[in-house]
Order: sequence, then structure tokens, then C-alpha cells
Amino acid sequence: MVNPYLDGNFAPVLEERTDDRELEVTGVIPPDLEGRLLRNGPNPVSTPSDPADYHWFSGDGMIHAISLAGGKATGYRNRWVRTRALANKVATVPPKGPSEAIDGPANTHVIRHAGTTMALVESGFPHALSPDLDRARIHDFASTLSSPMTAHPKVDPATGELVFFGYDPFGPPFLRYHVVDAAGQLTRTEDIDIPRATMIHDFGVTATRAVFLDQPVVFDMDLAVQGRPLPFRWIPEAGSRVGVMPRSGGNDDMRWISMDPSYVFHIVNAFDDGDNTVLDVVRYDAVFETDPGEAISRCAPSLHRWTVDPAANRVREEMLDDTPVEFPRIDPAVAGTRHRYAYVASEGGDPEHPTFEGLIKYDLGRDEATRFDPGPDRSPGEPVFVRAADGTGEDEGWVLSVVFDASRGASDLVILDATSFAGPPVATVHLPARVPFGFHGSWIPSDPPAASS
Ligand SMILES: [Fe+2]
Repeated sequence: MVNPYLDGNFAPVLEERTDDRELEVTGVIPPDLEGRLLRNGPNPVSTPSDPADYHWFSGDGMIHAISLAGGKATGYRNRWVRTRALANKVATVPPKGPSEAIDGPANTHVIRHAGTTMALVESGFPHALSPDLDRARIHDFASTLSSPMTAHPKVDPATGELVFFGYDPFGPPFLRYHVVDAAGQLTRTEDIDIPRATMIHDFGVTATRAVFLDQPVVFDMDLAVQGRPLPFRWIPEAGSRVGVMPRSGGNDDMRWISMDPSYVFHIVNAFDDGDNTVLDVVRYDAVFETDPGEAISRCAPSLHRWTVDPAANRVREEMLDDTPVEFPRIDPAVAGTRHRYAYVASEGGDPEHPTFEGLIKYDLGRDEATRFDPGPDRSPGEPVFVRAADGTGEDEGWVLSVVFDASRGASDLVILDATSFAGPPVATVHLPARVPFGFHGSWIPSDPPAASS
């Protein structure tokens, strides 16, 4: 049996490349895009002899970096994240950092906060990366972090704080809430009571509140002892709950509200609406219903709006669109406040083994969806929005997505003008290599030139 997560463009690339040269481009790269797109994803350095022992979520993290400057694409490189696990398999320099910190594959997201670029996975500590991506250091916020950190922390655009959580299957506590200030110092940790260890991939942060999901994907110690790559089971009897508390609060301030079982990996955004809290989510009816390690879900995920109403003690669910989608992104400038636009990748094919076929821009103000079709045999990844230098409106910017071109056996970086989303792209950067399907990334602007004194 071929593991679908080792097949086609899920298969790992086996080479680290350094292409510090101008790359071929079709179209014109917006000159205000000065920086790098970093994209993380699983890229197993070696694969188990039994395909059942590999899951997409467990592969060694690899960062792909595409540099843009002066209207040109100035380079591409890819590097495995230098985790301890990687160094145990191949000759790489292991990360510096506390020996007791949980390592993890560092394969899910890559962000920059307070001058530190971090590769993230929810099962381990952040790995701080050197600018050339050749070195890593396990980042425990000056010995203040003692358990794993989510791959989906939130940066408050108003305060610059990094607000996040971590779940710990080996608790209690099974859940912790953390705040890092704009300078990168971890200032608060609160233990949150939940009855069992569940997989919590994302959470919501509004201007005033933190929102937690406790959903019935339950950690299974027996599967962990067996060494299964994904030791969780779908147990709907465990129930689903949403917890809301003030960002300045703690466990005693949490209000949990039960709802019908479902699963959400990704929250598009969360915002306050009076006493209610609104979450736009990508919702699955269920996940991991089959043997762990096989398909993520038999159900197609779609965009929903959840309104958490504490007065009514309920969460109202509304489907906004029935198109199968994943990897939602927004303009980071509106994070935590009411957003109008969301960008997603649309899925096609067999729900158990979906492929990404296009991108969608949702205008939630007008209840409209605009589609970008990348063309035949081309499959996009997560759409990353970057506000244009002179952009004032929420959608005045660029959407960056790494697109696999099966006919070329390599990938492109596609740059769309978000205000004319259906295309054609303003620029397509033809990368010198294939970028396997992966997870999340960030646009990291170049540091401005130092002011002359
Ligand atoms: Fe994610």
C-alpha cells in the first residue's frame, strides 16, 4: 500500500537547495514586496518501511524561502528545520537549547515575532531559526515556557503581543494560556482546566477575549505507546465545547458552552460583537473516524460562522458556504476585529484524499465568493495576504500562494492582486524545485535599512 501522504506532491524532496540568483518570472512582481515568503511543511528525511507508520502530520519540518526585492525574485532555498529528531537521523547540527524541552517535528507554521523567526508544531517547543535557516535553537522564552506551543499563535496588531496556548497530553494541566509582550518576553501563563487531553490545533483571540476549543479528538495513550504517528481518536461522546475568557483572565474566568460535536482545525478570525463572540471557522462534521494515520476526514470542511452567546448559553452555527475549503487567512491588520475578507484554498477530489484546486476570496460583507483558477494540473497551497505598502482598504494587497505545477514537476509562487482576485496573477515566480504540499507560512518583510546618523 502506498501511503497517500508519501505520493505525488506529498512526497518529500530529498535535496536542500540554495539558489541565490534571480529566478524566472512571468509578469511583474510588485516592488513593495521586499522580504521573504517562508513556508513550512512536512518533508520526512527518511520514511518508515511500513507506510502505516507515517502520517502527514508527523514528517520532519522543512522551510521553503522565496526572496523578493526590487521587483525581482532574488532567490530560493529550502532547509529542514534542525530539530533533535533530524540530527538523530542525518548529519545535521542539533538545536541548542534546554535538554528537557520537547523537540517535535517543527513542521506546521513559521512566524516572526519580536525579531525571532520560529518554526512551530503543536507537539513541541518553537525552534528559532537563523536567517540562513542553517541553524536552530529551541526557544523557551528565557526558560519561562515549560510545555509545547501551538502552531497558531495570534499577534495582536494593536499591541504587538503574541497570544497563544499549548496543549499537553501528559498533563494535567492539559491546556495552558500564554501572553508574550511585543518585546518577546513571556509575561503570563495560566493553567486551564479541561477534563482530558484533546487535540487543539487553533484558537481565537479578539480585542478583549481568548476563545478555546475543546473538541472530541482525544489523546490515546495506548496508541502513543505503540508509537503510532497520530495517537488520537475521534470520540464524539466526549462532547464539544467552546470556552471564552477575558484575555486578561484565567481559568476562573472561563465560560464553557457545549455544542454538537464537530472539529475545527482552523479559525479564520474571532471578534467581539457586544457580549457575543464571533468565530469564523473551517468546520468538519468529524475527523479521524477511520484508523488513525489514514484519511484526516471523510467529510468535506467548509466555512461556518459560530456565534458564542453567553446569555443564551449556546453557540449558534451558520454555514456560510458549502464549498470544501481549508487554510484560511485574513489580513493580519484586522486580526481580532471584524473582518470583511477571508482567503482560502478550495478542495476537490475524494474527500478522504483531497487536492487543492483553486483559491477563493470571500467577501463576507457582500456574501460573495471570487475564485482564482490556477489552471490545469496546478494545485495551490495556503493563500498568504500581504497588505500593499500604499494599501488602505482591507483587501488592498497581494495574495501569495505556492502552486504545484504537475506538468513541470516543480512549483511556482503565484502573486495575486487581492482586489482583482480572479486573475490573471500579477506575477508568477518559477521556482527551481518542487515544494511538497505543506501547511502554513508567513511573509517576513525585510528589515528597513538602518537610518544614517
Ligand atoms: Fe494549521
